[in-house]
This record gives sequence, structure tokens and C-alpha cells, in this order.
Amino acid sequence: MRTATRAAREMLAKWNPLDPAQLDDPYPSYALARRQAPVFYNEYFDAWCVTRYEDVLAAVKDTSRLSSREATGSDRVPDELVSLLPNGYPWSEPTLVNNDPPAHTRVRRLVNEAFCRPLIAARESEIARIVEGLIDEFESAEHCDLVSQFAKPLPVIVICRLLGVPDEHAAQVVTWSEAKLGMINPNLDDDTLIALARGQANFYDFCEAFIEEQRTLRHSDTLVRHLLDARSTGDEPVLTQREVISVVAQLLLGGNSTTRRLITNMMLRLNEHPAQLEAIRVDSSLARAAVEESLRHTTSVKGLYRTATATFRLGRVTIPEGARVVVFWASANRDETKFERADEFDIFRPDTERHIAFSRFAHFCLGASLARLEARLALDKLLSRLPDLRLAGTDAYAWEPLALHQGLSRMDVQWR
Ligand code: HEM
Repeated sequence: MRTATRAAREMLAKWNPLDPAQLDDPYPSYALARRQAPVFYNEYFDAWCVTRYEDVLAAVKDTSRLSSREATGSDRVPDELVSLLPNGYPWSEPTLVNNDPPAHTRVRRLVNEAFCRPLIAARESEIARIVEGLIDEFESAEHCDLVSQFAKPLPVIVICRLLGVPDEHAAQVVTWSEAKLGMINPNLDDDTLIALARGQANFYDFCEAFIEEQRTLRHSDTLVRHLLDARSTGDEPVLTQREVISVVAQLLLGGNSTTRRLITNMMLRLNEHPAQLEAIRVDSSLARAAVEESLRHTTSVKGLYRTATATFRLGRVTIPEGARVVVFWASANRDETKFERADEFDIFRPDTERHIAFSRFAHFCLGASLARLEARLALDKLLSRLPDLRLAGTDAYAWEPLALHQGLSRMDVQWR
């Protein structure tokens, strides 16, 4: 038993999440870890990886010993770019995903008001129109790449409209956010980092100009206006300009590629399970369960980082102060002690909603209601408008080469 554990630890230390077989299916490696070495050190991430459901929950709850300041990677600006990015990246000021309580609580309370579930639900018909408009563009072609022609534009147009950013900037927002995702890679050489980071100076300027414009708009009732107008009892602005820039940047980044991945991962799994797809065609109320099971089974955000602020024990392992930790929601969602037949995709399972794809506690995903709504509407409209929609052959999709996110770079589908 001890030998097996040592062998697993050694194997997991060398585990490369970008290996093509791991991109196709990282779940056997997570399962090995949960069984033999639930918290293990990995060289690729240079971090301690947490894989069991209960340990992941304990880790994300423990905001005092596990800081989120570098949750999405290091914000180091290369020397060559310091003059272009004197204030850091647009998202760098500690606000939401990269902040810890109590400072996090102050920002989150304000943003929560603008992103609460009833306000998002009120935008349902507007989002449905965006979905229909995208389908209009390719319906007559009888085939399309569901990633580039549907799942990519949908969430970015939605988050831009919610914030008041004109549609013409949506494609550029996607480019900035792809570059940011590339920057999460822990092993970037300087040249690659510089290439990815260079464009972020334009993103900073864009957010700043957008916020300035919002400031001048009278009678506007936007989220940004709300953040700018918030005053403390002494009439001081509650958020600094840089904090508002950071919140806007995090919403634009967080609000697009994650939901894109949810939509295509869901369509892929449903195509692999035709009987479940057929059941949703017959009873569209099952779409909600399909969204939840997709979040559990093949979630878009596999994991993110924490940094240990003290030496402490997690499971059977001692995490040293200053060490990096990766919390793997994707593994927690397949924990067989929490979910029966955890590896099976089954929209009828009774325990789906226990998934933690949106995390829990302080950093529970701000956009969860929005992502759920978009995915449900996407599924509903795709099935009603293109009832015969199916994968175009066995080689119709490819996984993106990302260590901490999970989604498709293309998904060729057809219908008649
Ligand atoms: C399927 C879609 C999505 C998934 C799977 C997802 C997943 C997550 C996860 C796991 C976290 C926790 C991060 C951490 O603890 O370090 C998070 C936080 C966050 N998400 Fe999402 N997300 C999705 C969609 C969205 C959308 C649509 C938005 C924007 C409207 C958004 C904005 C955010 C923000 C701002 C945070 C940080 C919240 C905080 O720290 O207070 N996400 N998300």
C-alpha cells in the first residue's frame, strides 16, 4: 500500500496536464490522486494540487491561510513593458478573484447588487434574442463550427451589453481574454510572456476610457455607474479608479470564455449521449439539469491557484508557507465519495447540484446565474431551431491546450 502511494506520488509529481492524452481526459489522473495522494506536489505547476471534494472545499473556505491574491497566476509585468503598463494589468488591483476578505467583502458587496439573480433573470429575453440572432446567421448553411460561430460570440456580446460596452469591441475583448488565459501558464518563457502581455496595455486604456465615458453619462443606471457613485458615510468614493478598472476587466474576462466552454462541453456530452439529448428535445425543462450535469462532469474551470500564507496541514500533507496550491474543482466534481457513478454523464442523477464548478464561499462565481441562463437558452434554442444537430464525424472536435481550463477549440456540427 505504502509502495503504491509512493509510486503514485512520484508519477503525479511528473504529471503534465498539457500532455495530449491529459487534455483529452485528465480524469484518470485526478482519480489516481484522490485514491493514493489526494494532495500532491506537481512540478509543472510548482504547486500542491488538491483533488478531493472535501479538501477542495476546506481549501477555498480557508481564505486566511490560502490567499487568492494570485488566484489566476502571477501579475508580474516584464521589465520591457513596465512603461506601457505602469499600473500593472487592468485586472491586477486586488478586487474580486484576486483579493481576500475583508477587502474582498467590501468590493463583492457592491458588485453583488448589480449582478443579483433577479436582475440577470430580467435580461432573459434580451439574451434569447442574441442567441436567435447568432443562429440566424448560420442556420441555412446546414453546418458550422459551434465554437467560433456560436459559443464564442454569445457570452462576450452578452457581458458587453450588460456592462454597456458597444458590440464592436466584443472580438477585441475575446483576444485580450485569450491572452490573459495564456498568461496563467506557470512556465512561460519571457518572450512568450511579453508577446501575450503587450496587448494588455490597450486593454487597460480601453477599460479606463470606457469608465470615463460612463462617468459622464447622465441618468445612466449601469453597473459601472453604480460602482463609481458608491460613497462611504464620509462621502469618499468606496472604490478607487483602479479598483473599478479591475472589476470591469475581471467581468469582461470572467464573463466570456468560461461560458463558451460550458456551452460546447455540454453540446459535446449530449451528443455522446443521444438518449439524454432526445429526452431534452421531448421535455425542454430538462435543459436546466443538462447545464448542471455539464458543469459537474466537464467543467470549464478545472482549477485555479492559492498561495499559503502560513505553514499548515491539508489532508495528510504539510503545505509550507509561501507555497502555491492548485484547487481542482474538476476533480472534486468527480469524487466518487460524493457522486455515485461519478464518471458517468447523467442528466437524471439526483446529486448533480452538489457540484462545485462555481466554487463556494467568498469567491463563489459572481457570474453563475448569468452562465446558467446563457447555457440553458443556448441549448433550448439550438435544439428547437436545429433539431437534427449532431457532430460532423468522429474527428469533429479538439480540446484546447490549457492546463487549468477545459474546452474545445473547434466543434464541427451539422443538421438538415
Ligand atoms: C461556466 C461558466 C463559469 C464557470 C465554470 C466559472 C467558474 C468560476 C470559479 C470556479 C470561480 C472561483 C474562482 C476562485 O475561487 O479563485 C469564479 C469566480 C468568478 N467568476 Fe466565474 N465562472 C463562470 C462564468 C462567469 C461569468 C459569466 C462571469 C461574469 C459575469 C464570471 C465572473 C467571475 C468573477 C468576477 C469571479 C470572482 C468572484 C470573487 O472572487 O468574488 N464567471 N468563477
